Amino acid sequence: MFTQVQYGAKEYDEALALRSEVLRAPLGLELGREELDDEKDSFHLVSWRDNAIVACLVLMPQSKKQLKMRQLAVRENCRGEGVGHALVSYAESFALDHSYKEIVLHARETALGFYEKMGYEVEGECFIEVTIPHFFMRKNLLKGEGMQLKTPLGNGH
Ligand SMILES: CC(C)(COP(=O)(O)OP(=O)(O)OC[C@H]1O[C@@H](n2cnc3c(N)ncnc32)[C@H](O)[C@@H]1OP(=O)(O)O)[C@@H](O)C(=O)NCCC(=O)NCCS
Repeated sequence: MFTQVQYGAKEYDEALALRSEVLRAPLGLELGREELDDEKDSFHLVSWRDNAIVACLVLMPQSKKQLKMRQLAVRENCRGEGVGHALVSYAESFALDHSYKEIVLHARETALGFYEKMGYEVEGECFIEVTIPHFFMRKNLLKGEGMQLKTPLGNGH
């Protein structure tokens, strides 16, 4: 099950704990107060299993049309089961429902293949963020939407 959680709510704190455990502690870093202040106006989406948050991500508006996807984290013992894919798909539907047309992100080099499978494309060169290699990626959420109409029309319906 997926839901949006509100900035500052109990569920947001639970997601923060997961983000810290998955994305910062392994690098010997902490989530900065400034970083969290900056996400007051972001959308916080989470995936639930047995009343616990097993994955989360942040969608930060960059403009009326574009969101930046940040901080995707899946609990370690839930990886490889499609949880990340399902949450990103949910985020894309959520984005379209809120009239956004594009998602951009900074992908860790180790997660490039995951995003590529979901249709995100690399732009530019590798750069360093939170001490590790990243790539800028982008996905046009409207690309391919029209193509879905082709099958029924092609079948003569
Ligand atoms: C990267 C991450 C979000 C993937 O989540 P997940 O739930 O394990 O991934 P899924 O099970 O939904 O995988 C979906 C597909 O992507 C593939 N995939 C998953 N992780 C991958 C990776 N790191 N590299 C390449 N492919 C990957 C899976 O094999 C699967 O392929 P399939 O559809 O052909 O079976 C998760 O491993 C994670 O939280 N990693 C640590 C934090 C991180 O790196 N976050 C991203 C920061 S940019």
